[in-house]
Amino acid sequence: MENFSFLNPTRIIFGRGTQSEAGAYAAKYGKKVLLHYGGGSIKRSGLYDQVVQSLSDAGLEFVELGGVQPNPRLTLAKKGIELARAEGVDFILAVGGGSVIDSAKCISIGVPYEGGVWDFYDRKAVPGKALGIGVVLTIPAAGSESSDSSVITNEDGPYKTGLSSDIFIPKFAILNPELTYTLPAYQTASGAADMLAHVMERYFTNARDVDLSDKLCEALMRAIIHNAPLAIKNPEDYNARAEIMWSATLAHNNLVGMGRVGDWASHHIQHELGAVYDMAHGAGLAIIFPAWMKYVCKHDVTRFAQFANKVFGVEYDFWNPENTALEGIARLERFFESIDMPIRLSQAGLPDIEANIPLMAKKATRKALQGQFVKLGAEDIEKIYHLAM
Ligand code: NZQ
Ligand code: ZN
Repeated sequence: MENFSFLNPTRIIFGRGTQSEAGAYAAKYGKKVLLHYGGGSIKRSGLYDQVVQSLSDAGLEFVELGGVQPNPRLTLAKKGIELARAEGVDFILAVGGGSVIDSAKCISIGVPYEGGVWDFYDRKAVPGKALGIGVVLTIPAAGSESSDSSVITNEDGPYKTGLSSDIFIPKFAILNPELTYTLPAYQTASGAADMLAHVMERYFTNARDVDLSDKLCEALMRAIIHNAPLAIKNPEDYNARAEIMWSATLAHNNLVGMGRVGDWASHHIQHELGAVYDMAHGAGLAIIFPAWMKYVCKHDVTRFAQFANKVFGVEYDFWNPENTALEGIARLERFFESIDMPIRLSQAGLPDIEANIPLMAKKATRKALQGQFVKLGAEDIEKIYHLAM
């Protein structure tokens, strides 16, 4: 196990009815709140009214900015920064999924900074101050509710870039599984693919003697694979929704990544797709992750065979562990297909995809080689995109 430093300060408030506590928790950190949300699902479900009531019960003033799109845009975050400054906002309440939370994180560091907020994502500056953030989560997927990351799309590129900083980890996150009953099956499945990918990024490591975190990862993966289909079949299955909601947070709050170095190449390869094609992040990962696995499997066949055996119950072929490893990848693809996720780029309806591969591969490596388990250059990434075709 490698040395590590673990920080996870987000208070998790979990369970039925907990959205009514949003105002009381926000009042611990601020007086004037920016209520930030997406394209309207929270208005249709009635959650917006409940949150507004809760803010008013706590005696908080608020201004609002909706309209965050999946793959959240820099332009809207800049609008949020201007609004928050003009209105003297001192706390941001993000009500939605990863896109809303990431946009809130971008606003939180932009408000006290005199330069352009993209400086942080472009590694030209390091955030030193931020407004506090609270979350009411409506989709278990990205794990942004307690992660140290914000992923923003700069339309001028387009570039989709992540930034990590302890400074904008949310103060609290309200997780009520009932709020996810209204999710379309596609979003539930895409979220499951994303949370599974967060565990797999950490699972495929070169670190040795990481037995505990291996087992935590395997347990999380099995829980997601078991419960996601149940939630898709019966959207109001509280227990299945609860299991995947908690899994999504644990998959990305870094607990299962301690003492080991994760890979993360698949995420970067997917982010380039997200930037050009504006596709759902998890759906892109369902395509890219198996292709990456096939490309790097020979680097550590034993680890892939362990994945196959412990996560999917594939019988271990001691004479030829590579067979076990490849069967594990095939089972993962079958799982994604079973929840109606695409597993090939050619199925995803992406115009000119072949022609765009060289540029996406180049952009993915514009700052550095990608991946820690196996280092990948632009040529490797092109091959992975082609394997995914
Ligand atoms: O915008 P609304 O109308 O709310 O609709 C959203 C959106 O269309 C809808 N939705 C959310 N909750 C709903 C609902 N519809 C009905 N009922 C509900 N309860 O779902 C759609 C997707 O929402 P989004 O927030 O985009 O989903 P997700 O949580 O998957 O976030 C994806 C973003 O997170 C980034 C991704 O790159 C992507 O941009 N990530 C952020 C990470 C982080 N900050 O740590 C890590 C991840 O790896 C990921 O990269
Ligand atoms: Zn992800």
